[in-house]
Amino acid sequence: MSKGMPILKLGKHRPRYPLIQGGMGVGISGSRLAGNVAFRGAVGTIASVGLSHNSPYLRDEKMNYFDANEIVIKEVLREARNIAGPEGVLAVNCMVALTDYDREVRAAAEGGADVIISGAGLPLRLPEYMKDFPDVALVPIVSSAKAASLIARRWERQYGRSPDGFVVETPATAGGHLGATTMEQVYDPALSIDTALPETVRFVAEEMKSDIPVIAAGGVWDRRDMERMFELGAKGVQMGTRFACTAEGDASDRFKQAYIDAKEEDVVLIHSPAGLPGRAIKNPFVAKYLEGEVDSNPCFANCLTHCRYRKTRETFCIAAALVDAFNGNWERGLFFCGSNVTKVDRLSTVQEILDDLFPEPPGP
Ligand SMILES: Cc1cc2nc3c(=O)[nH]c(=O)nc-3n(C[C@H](O)[C@H](O)[C@H](O)COP(=O)(O)O)c2cc1C
Repeated sequence: MSKGMPILKLGKHRPRYPLIQGGMGVGISGSRLAGNVAFRGAVGTIASVGLSHNSPYLRDEKMNYFDANEIVIKEVLREARNIAGPEGVLAVNCMVALTDYDREVRAAAEGGADVIISGAGLPLRLPEYMKDFPDVALVPIVSSAKAASLIARRWERQYGRSPDGFVVETPATAGGHLGATTMEQVYDPALSIDTALPETVRFVAEEMKSDIPVIAAGGVWDRRDMERMFELGAKGVQMGTRFACTAEGDASDRFKQAYIDAKEEDVVLIHSPAGLPGRAIKNPFVAKYLEGEVDSNPCFANCLTHCRYRKTRETFCIAAALVDAFNGNWERGLFFCGSNVTKVDRLSTVQEILDDLFPEPPGP
C-alpha cells in the first residue's frame, strides 16, 4: 500500500483502498456505481432509499411500496455483486428516517451486504435488527463525537455490541441531507471536520478503548484532502459528489450534466421536508421553493417517519423530487450535491478517481 496509507478494516472486511463511495439516493448510487467501485478495490455503497421507484413490482404489479423495496434491494445487491465479484466490499446505506428502515436493513443483510452504513438519524436500534447477521459490519454516520458516544454507549448497554466504525460527516460541505438540526448549525465550528473528526478519534481510542476506524466525509476531493483527513486521525474517507458524475454513476446523463454545469452561486441550502437542511443545486424547482412557492408531485409512498409534506402539505414530496432529478428532469427535480460539485468539470470514471487518489499500486 502507498506510504502512510491506513488499512481500512470494517469488521471482517478489508477493502484494498481506505475509501468508501458514499450512498447517494434516490438511485444515484445503484448497482453499477457500487459494483464497479467495489470491483476496483474501494467500498461501493448502494443507497437503499426509494430503490423500488421504477420497478415493475410497483408500476405494473401495484405491489405495496415497502414490500417492493425489500425485493428490489436484494435484486440491486445481486447485480452489484455480479460486477464486484466475491472479494469486492459492498455496503448498503440505509437512512434511519425511513418508515421501513428495519425492513430495509434486514433485506440488505439477507441480500449479502458486507457493511450497513446508516445515518439521517441515530441508528440506536440497528444491532437489534442485525442480530442474525454477525458478519455484517455496522457503521453509523455521525456529525459529532457526542453522537458517536450516544450510539456506542446505547449499543454496549442494550446489545453488548460495538459499532465497526464511524463515518464522521461534516454538514459544512457534504451532499444530501445534512447532520444538523438548523441552518445555522450547518457551519457551526463544532461540526467542522477539523473539530468533529479528531474528537471522535479521541473518543474511540480513549473512551471506547477501541481501534475501530473513523472515516471522514464531506468535501474530500483529491489526494491532498484525503491525506489531511488521515493526519487528523481518519482511517478512511467517504466521498459522494465526485463519484456521482462518473460513467458508472447510475443517474441519468442530464443529472450528471447538472453537476458539470454547477457554479458556486448555484449551490444552496434548503429546508428538506425531512426536517433537516440539505445541500442542492439551485435549479428552477429549488429557486421557486426558496421564494416560498412550490408545486409538489403527490406523496410518493409515506416513505419518511417525519415528513413535513405529508403533515402540512407546505413543502414537497422529496422522494418524487429526487426521482425526478435521477431521471434528469431539470425543471422539477431536487439535485442534491456536495459543495465540491463546483469542481466537477467533466464526466470521469471510477478508475480515473482511484488513479488520482492512489497513484502508487497497492501493496500485498
Ligand atoms: C446526490 C447525493 C445523494 C446522497 N444521498 C445520501 C443518502 O441517501 N444517504 C446518506 O446517508 N447520505 C447521502 N449522501 C451523502 C453521501 O453519501 C456522502 O457522505 C457525502 O456526499 C460526502 O460528501 P462529498 O459529497 O463532499 O464527497 C448523498 C450525497 C449526494 C451528493
